[in-house]
Amino acid sequence: MTTRPTWLRTPAGTPRRISFGADYNPEQWPRDVWTEDVRLMQEAGVDVVSVGIFSWAHLQPAADRWTFGWLDDVLDLLHDGGIGVDLATATASPPPWLTTAHPEVLPVTRDGAVLTQGARQHWRPTSPVFRRYALALTEKLAQRYADHPALVAWHVNNELGCHNVHDYSDDAAAAFRAWLARRYGDVEALNHAWGTAFWSQRYGSFDEVLPPRRAASHPNPGQQLDFARFSSDALRDHLVAEREVLRRHTPDVPVTTNFMVMGETRGMDYASWASEVDLVANDHYVHPGPQARDELSFSASLTGGLAGGLPWFLMEHSTSAVNWQPVNVAKRPGEMARDSLAHVAHGADAVCFFQWRQSSAGAEKYHSGMVPHAGSRSRLFRDVVSLGRDLRALDAVAGSHRVTAPVAILFDWESWWASELDSHPTDRLRYRAEALDWWTALVDAGVRADVVPAGADLSPYAMVLAPVLHVVPQRLADRLDAYVRGGGHLVTTYFSGIVDDAERVWLGGYPGAFRDLLGIRVEEFGPLPDGETLPISTGGSGSVWSEPVDVIAADVEVLARYAAPGVLEGPAVTWRPVGRGSAAYVSTRLDAAGRGPVLAGLLERAGVVSELPEHLRGCVELTRRRGDGGDFWFLLSRSGETLDLGGVEGTVLLGGPDLAAGGVAVVRR
Ligand code: GAL
Repeated sequence: MTTRPTWLRTPAGTPRRISFGADYNPEQWPRDVWTEDVRLMQEAGVDVVSVGIFSWAHLQPAADRWTFGWLDDVLDLLHDGGIGVDLATATASPPPWLTTAHPEVLPVTRDGAVLTQGARQHWRPTSPVFRRYALALTEKLAQRYADHPALVAWHVNNELGCHNVHDYSDDAAAAFRAWLARRYGDVEALNHAWGTAFWSQRYGSFDEVLPPRRAASHPNPGQQLDFARFSSDALRDHLVAEREVLRRHTPDVPVTTNFMVMGETRGMDYASWASEVDLVANDHYVHPGPQARDELSFSASLTGGLAGGLPWFLMEHSTSAVNWQPVNVAKRPGEMARDSLAHVAHGADAVCFFQWRQSSAGAEKYHSGMVPHAGSRSRLFRDVVSLGRDLRALDAVAGSHRVTAPVAILFDWESWWASELDSHPTDRLRYRAEALDWWTALVDAGVRADVVPAGADLSPYAMVLAPVLHVVPQRLADRLDAYVRGGGHLVTTYFSGIVDDAERVWLGGYPGAFRDLLGIRVEEFGPLPDGETLPISTGGSGSVWSEPVDVIAADVEVLARYAAPGVLEGPAVTWRPVGRGSAAYVSTRLDAAGRGPVLAGLLERAGVVSELPEHLRGCVELTRRRGDGGDFWFLLSRSGETLDLGGVEGTVLLGGPDLAAGGVAVVRR
């Protein structure tokens, strides 16, 4: 068995460093700009750029014409400048000649509208025609550049699924049927799983099944969940198909693709993709709001979870404003560096941006870049150069792994998809927001957490928080049961343990999959109308959801009660010792004032204490990495004041001894 590379291919003896760079789109610029680009990249300390992402039309201007000369020159120029290339397969955006000749590659929406050419990513993940053209291009690139010394990694396509994850075309229908036939074997198994006895939906054969296109009322939930799974798998198949071509030509060059672990981007189950790439890469854009920086950390931690704690590649973020939010707020001085270093804190060994030079035309011309419209004589470019210097101060961090936290937050894409389906008790439930609020509460308490996919090894964690873990197949219930009996402390919440992986309810009282473990039983959900909150005995209140919880085991302790006389006064939070561990349940969506005390009590019972000196708890977020270069503490300020880092022993590599408001300090212990 050959071992796969896990990081960039660089000449033997090149010391590992935190890489720095961007997407580089030279085809948008005349050649004299290329020379200036390389000079400025050197000035900024850039050592890697992603090239060719949207270059298909420039590499293959017609079906039978290939024009690689310009790309040869770009790669040579970059190599001469000491800059490595993460070379894209260029398949993200098919050129107009292709979609004109083959309109059957265009994706179709749920309503039957065809998504036309003229933007980007207008291709069906399941189109055999698109696949043929994409693999031919991949093959040409792999042949031509396999031995180019600039090549450090392959970049498959780009943000697979950003715009085309859910395609309802006839190609998708055919592929969905084949996927279902593989999953269920015979159609009666599908009928059972989807509960098609309901509303006369019984299928006589797989040929009758369609994607959940726009229908007269709620489409079958099992069909919707399977279509979500299928859609994610179809894109993963595309990733694997391109990857296989690349591996045939360059077995020693790592293959990656940029994930989108951020915000509400939800179509791809990256837990099932991560093992298909040699190194995990992610794109992250800050969404403004009070939890913007906690969300960044949450996403970065989950990316680290997908990478199994190994270093990963931040492929894109922004130096300042983006162009696709309703109002595109510019980053304030210091924010670009802070965001970059926060990703490093969570395991990124490369800090890259979209894009190197801000475009002068096209839909992204108002999206910031490393070289803004103002040119290199700008505050932004000076900040870029300064960030490049900061990263050099962290070279010893490169290659280090994350140090497992005391607490894990389980993140499960299937539960995300299923818990927010239509036809549910409420459409106000937000899976990711609930998980993020627990993250914020943990950081407020000064406690480190790792966000991990549901399949991760949980044994190293003292506490596992599994918010809205809605889809629970028997094997997951068994794993969590074993975790608890072996000494783990599990905390789960409302709408968890409700359905199996066919989206069929676990009967006998909620939460069916965890009822016996938790020692509680719920007969009816109590979703709350907008604006209605229920006070909690330990402080704060719950919204969105409530439940009349019955305690069914003698050893269950009620940690908090609803305090709404005449409405609900039963248990709101329960805790039960089980085996060598415990299982706790939170039956409502707590506000911050409610979550803090509840979490404090649960942490105490799990024996989890903050690693931070008391005066820093909540004011900074702590992350830890460890490797040959040392044991590193990253302290990310969440405060508007300068903080004294007294009590944190070690050598300050960056940002100390006083931690600036909103800044980042790195200490080697
Ligand atoms: C990503 C994409 C880039 C660029 C960027 C803008 O979705 O990969 O090509 O569009 O967003 O924020």
